[in-house]
Amino acid sequence: MCGISGAALEAGDVGPILYDSLKRLEYRGYDSVGEAAVINGKITIKKDAGKIDEVERKLRISDLRGTVGIGHTRWATHGAPSQENAHPHTDCNGRVAVVHNGIIENFMELKQELEAKGHVLKSRTDTEIVAHLVEENLKLKIGFVEAVRQAAKRLDGAYALAFVCADEPNKIVCVRKESPLVIGVGTKASYLASDIPAFLPRTKSAMLLEDDEMAVLTCDQIRVMKVDSGEEVVRKPFTVEWSVETATKGGFPHFMLKEINEQPLTVRNALRTQPIYLELMASAMNRAKKIFLLACGTSYHACLAAAYVFANLAKIEATPVIASEFIDSYGALIDADTVVLTVSQSGETADTLTAVRGAKDRGATILGLTNVMGSTLTRLSDVYIGQNSGPEMGVAATKTFTAQYSVLIKIAVALAQKRQTMSSKDLERLEGGFDQLPEWISATLSSQNENVRRIVEKNSDKGSFCFLGRGVSVATALEGRLKLLELSYLPAIAYPAGESKHGFISVVEEGYPVLFIAPKDEAYPKIVGNVMEMKARHAHVVSLVEGNDDQIASLSDETIQMPNGIPPPLTPIVFIVPLQLFAYRMAVTKGYDPDFPRNLAKSVTVH
Ligand code: AGP
Repeated sequence: MCGISGAALEAGDVGPILYDSLKRLEYRGYDSVGEAAVINGKITIKKDAGKIDEVERKLRISDLRGTVGIGHTRWATHGAPSQENAHPHTDCNGRVAVVHNGIIENFMELKQELEAKGHVLKSRTDTEIVAHLVEENLKLKIGFVEAVRQAAKRLDGAYALAFVCADEPNKIVCVRKESPLVIGVGTKASYLASDIPAFLPRTKSAMLLEDDEMAVLTCDQIRVMKVDSGEEVVRKPFTVEWSVETATKGGFPHFMLKEINEQPLTVRNALRTQPIYLELMASAMNRAKKIFLLACGTSYHACLAAAYVFANLAKIEATPVIASEFIDSYGALIDADTVVLTVSQSGETADTLTAVRGAKDRGATILGLTNVMGSTLTRLSDVYIGQNSGPEMGVAATKTFTAQYSVLIKIAVALAQKRQTMSSKDLERLEGGFDQLPEWISATLSSQNENVRRIVEKNSDKGSFCFLGRGVSVATALEGRLKLLELSYLPAIAYPAGESKHGFISVVEEGYPVLFIAPKDEAYPKIVGNVMEMKARHAHVVSLVEGNDDQIASLSDETIQMPNGIPPPLTPIVFIVPLQLFAYRMAVTKGYDPDFPRNLAKSVTVH
């Protein structure tokens, strides 16, 4: 998830405007930055790896001359942060420049086709191929706009693209499919950006581009058309009521609530991980004699859920381990036949990196899953995957949990196919589930938001809470508990429901709140018994149940209704959402800042 911006002015230079707009988009990505402008029939580019202010100090990107230009702030997905991989990217002759937010899924085959035609690609990004595709089309003398349209028709994936061309210097052409792109209607100026905050100080008049639409911007005109047919579309601008600060949070009061609501998109992005990387990871795991899943905090809970999936889908043992305990507990078992799949949102958690270095010293193969390309974990890994959730500003991990676990399931499926341990029927059902995940999350967010707010208000005076689940839902329970604990500072408890009889149950008294995570999976019949045990001790039972549930719902004091028929391995991705909301609402109800809870850091870089 990157930030793109553009401006077409009647007069003046775009440098300072692009610089300011990228600063306002920095929350979308900040590992490299760049700008391109057309002046005197040539495209000038300034770009480098590093945060915007660092690159500004080095290259003075705000000094870029020219009335028409595009800019980009990056959150790497393909190709680690570097000067070559920074955007904008150009074609062979530097006549076309492009910036991009999203993923071009078929970039590998287009790259081979272009290289076969003699194109030379300078970066490891998926984006650069688009500039060369436009270059190819320009040879047909069809003009810049049509060259972009024909190129866009060949792309699969999610993208917001913006182009400038030295042959037609007064225009910016942009295209949208699934990635956000908004247009700002100025006076003798037109703007574009991934998000409204970028141009809000300059105009409150905006225009949305729909999927599979493109627009041509000049300083005094904005034309919108359909990519497929080229047919013109009439689009009316609207007035933005938000302040810049609110706009940066997408209209939400806190980053955490914004990030909870981003999950339909970030889960879809994670499920789009390139098959080649899944294959590389599955092969390494298939060759291994011992497999460990290594992480801390929320990332560890993703590993815990993944262990269930590796066992049940790929019939392989993968041991989830808390990083700070790894070497002390398992050091003696690690050798060259060991694979350590390491999960870290930041890629910089000290406990995790120390454990990885200890494993490497013992000959293990390191597989990395992170949200930060170019992080230390990517440099220590033999193979790594970027989960592409975009920056997570809230200290409490939300969207990165569901994205991490989504990638881990995809790796398990690739391994199961390699080991032929899944029936085609089960595979089909799971693939169907992947497609429905974004909708299930959206449906839960819209249908349960007020219900969760009501349950929190009713129980906000309680001094402690307990979360219980079975099977894969043990991880959901532990993650729900961690969110509540770190945001509301309440001593919350979580247990495998069956284990609750061996100790925790002594804590239960009249009205003690127990939250059950109870999807209709193979553990359901047993968890019904656990609910009855808690009710027998007068606990206040809140159950997350499927909409058509009649058993547990009737036993519970309150229910949170979840979509029906989610394949069991996928339930943590949807059932965690109301628990994220629960923790968020409890923090707000208690007057705490849900974005920056006390005593915690987004990345724990100390032991
Ligand atoms: C979770 O909300 C916390 N921020 C924390 O437990 C976090 O998951 C842990 O520090 C691991 O961070 P990482 O994924 O960046 O390695």
